[in-house]
Order: sequence, then C-alpha cells, then structure tokens
Amino acid sequence: MKKLFLFPALAILGLLFFQGTPRTAVEVDKSPLAVMPDMPANVKAVVDQKCYGCHNAESKNEKGKAKLDWDAFEASKKSKQMAVMKKINEVVVNGDMPPKKYLENRPEGKLSEADLATLTEWSSGKKKK
Ligand code: HEC
Repeated sequence: MKKLFLFPALAILGLLFFQGTPRTAVEVDKSPLAVMPDMPANVKAVVDQKCYGCHNAESKNEKGKAKLDWDAFEASKKSKQMAVMKKINEVVVNGDMPPKKYLENRPEGKLSEADLATLTEWSSGKKKK
C-alpha cells in the first residue's frame, strides 16, 4: 500500500527535475554570441573561448566588463560596433588581450595563430556588407 504513495511523490520529483533541466541548459548555453547575426561562426567561437569569460554583462572582472561587454555589443548600433571592433583590432594586433597576467596562469587562453588571424580579419571590418 505504501508504495502507491511513492508514485505521485516520484512524479512530482520528476516534474521538478525536468522543469529544472531546460533552465540549467539555458544558463550553461547562455552565450549571447549565438544570436549575434553579423558575427561569423569562427569569430564567435574564438570570442566565446578566449574573450567572453571576462567581457560579459555579469563578469566579475569589472575592468574588463567596463571596457568591453559582448552582451552589450550585440545590442549596440552598427556605428558603435564598428568603434568597438577597431579597439578589438588594436588590442589583438598588439597582443594585449587576453591580458598577459592572466595568460601566465592560463596559457591555454592564449590566442593561436588561427584565432589571431580570425579576430584580426573580422575586427578590421574587411568583410563589409
Ligand atoms: C582575464 C580576463 C580577460 C580576457 C580573457 C580578455 N580580456 Fe579584454 N580586458 C580585460 C581587462 C581587465 C581589460 C581592461 C584593461 C585596462 O583597463 O587596462 C580589458 C580590456 C579590453 C579592451 C579595451 C581596451 C581599451 O584600451 O579600451 C578590449 C577591446 C578587449 N579587452 C578585448 C578583448 C578580446 C578581443 C579578448 C579575447 C581575445 C579579451 N579582451 C580577453 C580582461 C580580459
């Protein structure tokens, strides 16, 4: 008899679990870059891996966030985006980003030659529409 009561309990638990799942999934996959229409996939991939961590709306890296917020970038006007891209081009070409200090502990965060080429080309705005 007792076991019958377990069923609704399990059902509720199950429901809670499944309701929770999509939310978690959204959280994990919350990179807004996925919806940035003008940004080529290869650029998104690099930014996602190498830049987004410090430069997003919820970043704990206040300085980084203040200078560049990819979340805001997406929503900003084309003219603003162009200005930001120019800055990005500068820091990437100069090798200023990701910050050297950070790379001392996270060498895997360094831009590869390919990453560098991808970001440089994109941020130079060569591919005009
Ligand atoms: C470890 C965190 C971190 C990572 C990773 C990182 N940045 Fe930054 N970024 C910062 C910080 C901190 C600043 C502010 C530096 C300052 O004010 O001196 C900054 C500043 C900038 C600026 C503004 C520079 C200026 O002078 O206005 C740009 C553009 C930028 N980052 C682009 C990038 C790009 C592109 C990447 C990926 C290749 C990247 N960042 C990766 C932390 C980071």
